[in-house]
Amino acid sequence: MTLALAIETSCDDTAAAVVDSHWHVHSSVIESSIDQHRAFGGVVPELAGRAHLLTVGPVVRRALLDAGLDPHHPAIDVVAVTSGPGLVGSLLIGLSAAKAYALAWEKPYVGVNHLEGHLFAPLLERPDLQWPIVTLLVSGGHSMIVLQHGPGHHEVLGETIDDAAGEAYDKVARWLGLPYPGGPEIDRLAAQGSATVLTLPVSMTGNDLDFSFSGLKTAVVRATEKNPDVAVADVAASFQGAVAEQLLRKLRHALATHHNLRGVALAGGVAANSALRRGVAELASEFGVPSYLPTLAMCTDNAAMIAAVGLYRFAHDGPSDLSLGARPNWALADVK
Ligand code: KG4
Ligand code: ZN
Repeated sequence: MTLALAIETSCDDTAAAVVDSHWHVHSSVIESSIDQHRAFGGVVPELAGRAHLLTVGPVVRRALLDAGLDPHHPAIDVVAVTSGPGLVGSLLIGLSAAKAYALAWEKPYVGVNHLEGHLFAPLLERPDLQWPIVTLLVSGGHSMIVLQHGPGHHEVLGETIDDAAGEAYDKVARWLGLPYPGGPEIDRLAAQGSATVLTLPVSMTGNDLDFSFSGLKTAVVRATEKNPDVAVADVAASFQGAVAEQLLRKLRHALATHHNLRGVALAGGVAANSALRRGVAELASEFGVPSYLPTLAMCTDNAAMIAAVGLYRFAHDGPSDLSLGARPNWALADVK
């Protein structure tokens, strides 16, 4: 059995986790700086970087202690860390910490792609997962449909041509005067509203698997300017309905055009969305395959998913060279 310590600092969460090669999570600690960003309506890179700097040491220590390890000489085998994509200043802090621990403890170091981390998240809660699966990966920075042939073997089938789904949620929430991050707020309000009050366009109705959310965001702005008295809950429900309809229609197309699939999964922060969770479960039963819907804590950014990729990459490709640094724009399609 191999034991990994992982560090994740790609955005506003400082996270550390200890996971073993049987996918058992020994500890997972997350410290968010979100309260510092709320007043600005989005993550401020400078503030995120400073928060990581203060927090990364204590978070790693807590993850080691929670896993029952000696924080000075932990019996871990490898240190994994998010190398990208993400905010460069934030990534550099996690990377510097991971390299320092690896050098001090004389352990190998593995740089991990954050998006591949989200793809591994369902596996940590469902080690019985069978491949191939189609995964809808939707977060604040990315939206894509991925065909996973097995762990570490993926093919991007389609992706957003403009905003990510979470980004669209956050921008529409800001327009509606809701706090950041907007996704959970809109999701909560949508449950109290009617999706038929505003007619919003469903974009990208073609047969490819790409998405677009920028036009929808503009449509919300226009519709609310034209109908200023419409209730915020109704706007939230209409917007959520249009986002879910586009994502689920593309996912259905992916399921219909790929054969011998053994499941469908949701991943990324927007995978916490209630309409998407419901829709993916329905699609799974329509196609007669299991659905993999990670718990909310496993959907949003965490270091356990980074540890899982680190363990896989370490076993198959060996350690990374210490010269591997921050890769702020590292595309999933470039992960080999
Ligand atoms: O994956 P994540 O934690 O961070 C990134 O790597 O981007 O995703 C954060 C995004 C935010 O845009 C947030 O508004 C969105 O996930 N989000 C949601 C929900 N919970 C979080 N979007 C829609 N519905 C939700 N319930
Ligand atoms: Zn993420």
